[in-house]
Amino acid sequence: MKDGFLSPKLNLSTLPTPLEELNNLGKSLGIELFLKRDDLTTPGGGGNKVRKLEFLFADAIRAGAKTVLTIGGVQSNHCRQTALLARKLNLEPYLVLMGNEPETFQGNLLLDQLAGAQIYFSGRGRKAGEELLGELFRELKEKGKEPYLIPYGGSNEIGVQGYISAWLELKEEAERMGKDFDYIVLAASSGGTMAGILIGQALTESKARCMGISVGPKKEELREEIVELFERTSKKLNIEKPLPEFFLFDEFVGPGYGVLDEKTVEAILTLSQREGILLDPVYTGKTFKGLLGLLERGEIGGRVLFWHTGGIPALFAYSEIFKTRFLDEKKGEK
Ligand SMILES: Cc1ncc(COP(=O)(O)O)c(C=O)c1O
Repeated sequence: MKDGFLSPKLNLSTLPTPLEELNNLGKSLGIELFLKRDDLTTPGGGGNKVRKLEFLFADAIRAGAKTVLTIGGVQSNHCRQTALLARKLNLEPYLVLMGNEPETFQGNLLLDQLAGAQIYFSGRGRKAGEELLGELFRELKEKGKEPYLIPYGGSNEIGVQGYISAWLELKEEAERMGKDFDYIVLAASSGGTMAGILIGQALTESKARCMGISVGPKKEELREEIVELFERTSKKLNIEKPLPEFFLFDEFVGPGYGVLDEKTVEAILTLSQREGILLDPVYTGKTFKGLLGLLERGEIGGRVLFWHTGGIPALFAYSEIFKTRFLDEKKGEK
């Protein structure tokens, strides 16, 4: 199936991303384990947001934008990718980061600075962040800076299309390899990535079960977001397919969004030391912990695809915690 029915997009990344089999780990876990490498999209450390931004920036340019404005956490991968791509397209990036200004600028925040983004810290909480975003939007508009607003996580009926297109890409690769997947495991936060994959699955009548691992929100809340995005995007594209069955898990968040725990560190070390693949502490590390947990509970098996959604720059913002709380301890145990 071709993706010509989608909205216009720009080519801002190196696609298709590789699809790799993880032989060492798959063998010891007793499954066929595959990795979709969306950590290798460009720019600046990769990640899933680039696929959404290819559609969002096409819309921004169509709308005649001069500046682009978005929101995320202090270590937001979405904000970093937005800021860098905005520069490539001669747009000025404005970021509202929900948190307090840290003493040192590390990880994604350092990259935001290198992109020369205008950064505003809104303190803790989504409400304060969204209010500041609204104020900033009005201010930029009044100044004639033609702002284009990209929502949290790039998740709306335009951004979601990035993952319809990604699903079609994966489907084509799987067909070429003669392999279909039993399970797709991926991180879920704003829900846009999963909503796009579900539309893709509905269109191609895929039997793979999509397992979303929440990295923060409660699963009921996440389900509502995903269903809403599925419906809004389907409506925009005149698609009338029923929502496929999907599964959400919120028990792998552990102590909270972005808070590192022992099992997540183990999951990160398992992939780095068995396969030479890096995961991040906020999204993919927790999600791989989830994959291992589901496997242990017998809830997945067979041919499993782990969708690597990126996030590597955030690792460097956690270097001190890794060293003092986890890695030094392990050294002591040897
Ligand atoms: C590395 C990474 N993985 C997964 C996600 C979750 O994607 P979504 O917000 O579309 O659910 C994000 C979103 O911020 C992310 O940065």
